[in-house]
Amino acid sequence: MEKFLIKGSSSKGVKGLINCSGAKNAVLPLMASSILFDNTVTLINVPLGANDVQTMITLLKSLGSKVQIIKNKKTLKITNKKKHKLLVKYKYISTMRAGVLAMGALLGKYNKCSTALSGGCSLGPRPIGYHLAGFKKLNCKYSLNKGYINIVSPSGIKGGHFRFPKVSVTGTSNLILASVLANGITTLKNISIEPEVLDLIKFLRNGGARIYNIGKRTIKIFGVKKLNGHQHEVIGDRIEAFSYLCAAAITKGKIKIKKINPKHLTTELKVLKKIGCNIKVEKSSIELNRKNNLKTTNLKTAPYPGFATDCMPMLMAVLTKAVGKSKIEETIFTNRYMAAPELVRMGAKINIKKSIAFIIGQSNLNGADCISSDLRSTFAIILGAMAANGESCISRIYHGLRGYSNLYNNLKKIGVNIKKKS
Ligand code: EPZ
Repeated sequence: MEKFLIKGSSSKGVKGLINCSGAKNAVLPLMASSILFDNTVTLINVPLGANDVQTMITLLKSLGSKVQIIKNKKTLKITNKKKHKLLVKYKYISTMRAGVLAMGALLGKYNKCSTALSGGCSLGPRPIGYHLAGFKKLNCKYSLNKGYINIVSPSGIKGGHFRFPKVSVTGTSNLILASVLANGITTLKNISIEPEVLDLIKFLRNGGARIYNIGKRTIKIFGVKKLNGHQHEVIGDRIEAFSYLCAAAITKGKIKIKKINPKHLTTELKVLKKIGCNIKVEKSSIELNRKNNLKTTNLKTAPYPGFATDCMPMLMAVLTKAVGKSKIEETIFTNRYMAAPELVRMGAKINIKKSIAFIIGQSNLNGADCISSDLRSTFAIILGAMAANGESCISRIYHGLRGYSNLYNNLKKIGVNIKKKS
């Protein structure tokens, strides 16, 4: 069980250049969508170092897809040689929620699938009621048996109308995947417009899907007979970019992130500026230089283009060093503050009341032994450790390795005093 040993300093700023990886939350739906294509799909700028990507590769292979990994080119070539198996096993869903995306793709292609019901995770329950309600509107019926959702559309998926009660990222992707080959027209309302979902729509359109925006959060999908495989470059990972920018923010350092579209994190960059960071953006890069003391702020997470819930744990860590009172309200998940108790072990003052974190920032943190519990909390704890005086030992680092490629090497590259410990 790998651990990170980090010797932090309240006075040494990180410095350096990070090449942003492809977005984990973009590549996972793109990979699942390959099931819909008759011929080869090529994905480039794939974050092969993110363990969730490896899990999705194994999942696709278990269904019968042929997946070729071209490591030095960060490329995946996925070919569907034969009819897929229609069972998505629990072991793929239990560690990677995005496995549910195979549901929409299998339904879209074969009108049938059996997928393990995803359990909860440390963020709280991860229901898929919206996904299932949407499939029902597409002429499907489903039943739950021994932890598996069995879905079938006896007379075939038919276009329908569905409005999401709440914005759901993978819910939106799943319904799109189920609709692109349907008989008829599907209208989806109150959809997610996260960059990762728009990247999936772009990929499907370039493969021949007929998907039209008819409102800020409304699309119309005209079912087509087939999709043609082609090459697609995965967008940069906005959450990873924000994570490393926070490293410079919390340690009074200077970081440049390349291969990222700054427009994908406009709101988050505004917040970093507001708390005293100098930000310089170019077409595909962002540079953060923090010279002054951090300022406090209040914010609320929201679906894109609001402040991303996935960026919140890292900002919470940064705000522990902004002298004075800050407040964060989490509106997406019920349990997104898993990093708080670990940062408190470093001396941070964070008080959680229901969905609100009250932070009293201060100048000093001290290294401590910590346990990470989910993907983004891992990075938040690492941020605390790099800015704390003394050594921190962070266990269960595997949570972070699910979504950050080259985490150890990148941290070393920007000057973090880090060692691995088994
Ligand atoms: C996606 O999760 C991301 N994962 C998450 O990133 C991200 O935090 C989340 O969207 C919100 O942006 C991937 O893209 C693989 P939701 P998803 O459906 O799709 C409720 C990370 O750190 N809901 O948008 O599972 C749900 O409980 C991960 O990379 C229902 O109630 O999230 C939550 O409160 C963590 N019923 C809210 O909606 C449903 O059927 C948003 O969830 C579906 C969702």
